[in-house]
Amino acid sequence: MPSVGSLFERFTTPHSPGALLGSLNPRWGTRFPDGRARGVISSISPTGSNAALITILPPLAWPEHRPGQFVAIGVEIDGVIETRCFTITSVPRSVRKAQAHHASGGGPSAISERISLGASSESRAIEIAVQASDSGLVSKHLVNAARVGDHLLLGHPEGDFTLESVPSGDLLFLTGGSGITPAMAMLRALAAEGVEPPRLLGGNVVVIHHVRSRDALLFDGELESMAAELPWLRVEVIETRLRDGEPNPEARISMDRLNAHCADWNHRRTFLCGPKALMDDGIDLWADAGAADNMRVEVFQSVHGAVAGESLANSAAGSVLFARSGVAVESDGNTVLLELAEQAGLAPKSGCRMGICHTCVTQVHSGNTIDLRNGSISTAGDRVQICVSCPVDEVTLDL
Ligand SMILES: Cc1cc2nc3c(=O)[nH]c(=O)nc-3n(C[C@H](O)[C@H](O)[C@H](O)COP(=O)(O)OP(=O)(O)OC[C@H]3O[C@@H](n4cnc5c(N)ncnc54)[C@H](O)[C@@H]3O)c2cc1C
Ligand code: FES
Repeated sequence: MPSVGSLFERFTTPHSPGALLGSLNPRWGTRFPDGRARGVISSISPTGSNAALITILPPLAWPEHRPGQFVAIGVEIDGVIETRCFTITSVPRSVRKAQAHHASGGGPSAISERISLGASSESRAIEIAVQASDSGLVSKHLVNAARVGDHLLLGHPEGDFTLESVPSGDLLFLTGGSGITPAMAMLRALAAEGVEPPRLLGGNVVVIHHVRSRDALLFDGELESMAAELPWLRVEVIETRLRDGEPNPEARISMDRLNAHCADWNHRRTFLCGPKALMDDGIDLWADAGAADNMRVEVFQSVHGAVAGESLANSAAGSVLFARSGVAVESDGNTVLLELAEQAGLAPKSGCRMGICHTCVTQVHSGNTIDLRNGSISTAGDRVQICVSCPVDEVTLDL
């Protein structure tokens, strides 16, 4: 029976050093047995307050992302590979190349240099924007200690927090802090089409972004430059702190504030991403307005606080059969299904490895699994996040 402490430890030390350290050796090529690629940091630029824009060169065959998607990045810190997810904020390379072509021909979709594409049109580099958290392990490392030339592990682009996932029409981005990153990725891609309302959009865009103070804005004023140049974009920046550093009581999102900033908010396709308090308020407001179906949500923060120790008492040893691969392993009741699969030589998709991103969701064919965060039991036919679930008895998974 695992202790709650050991579960936390497992979430934050997702890979054993021995398993991956050797893999970072550049002589080993660009891809690892589990499908992850090796990327190299090609530039680091400070932005905002204690944040950085980091460009990473993936290997040649790395798949192109859709704006709004994220990538799981593994970073070696003190001999352990720590994995976290970051939004890819650069415009996909094919769009950058098309934009460069228009610009060189002076075509109608040439955009101002003040609007970045996140990487040059020639390069296959991708950009991420990392906001260092006060006690955050990986974000602080990337912002303060990482260097150009450092090697990283890269998953594939993942996620459906993207423009293609909503019908065309007017959009609203309700964001806070580093939650601006998927919005910026989508805005840059739309801007790459030029100053006319982009084909992908079919309407206009309002951004309501919350930030401690304007100095802390990521992307060095690019958001405001975009709003000044693009007739289809309006940006409202809300400072959440007063001059003395105290919380600004006026900044909290409410029905009145939404009506003031964007009268038709409940009719717009809305992307919500930001700190937990903003997410909670946003989800409640849209639900109260009967507009929950218009809202897409991306969660950046872990919900580990919800672990209910007493409800873990059911977790027990059993065996796990991975049906599609025909491989079976014994479980000690103390190892999550994702790790069991990896120990068995399989390479299931994973991103955050901590129950946030849903990349690892897999169907249970038979048996019962327990979600270690809240003790909930899943059974045949359910789809579970295997990075936070253990088998309770004999389990067969669709892997
Ligand atoms: C899909 C997705 C996309 C994301 N995109 C981005 C992005 O584009 N940019 C970005 O900056 N982030 C992004 N994130 C968040 C990112 O993945 C990390 O979660 C974030 O950077 C924090 O990781 P960390 O290792 O620095 O913090 P961790 O060490 O994992 O800590 C998590 C939090 O707990 C706090 N904490 C840690 N230890 C303590 C302690 N002892 N006491 C109190 N508090 C503590 C930290 O301050 C931090 O806020 C994304 C997350 C997801 C799921
Ligand atoms: S890998 Fe992100 S939820 Fe499992």
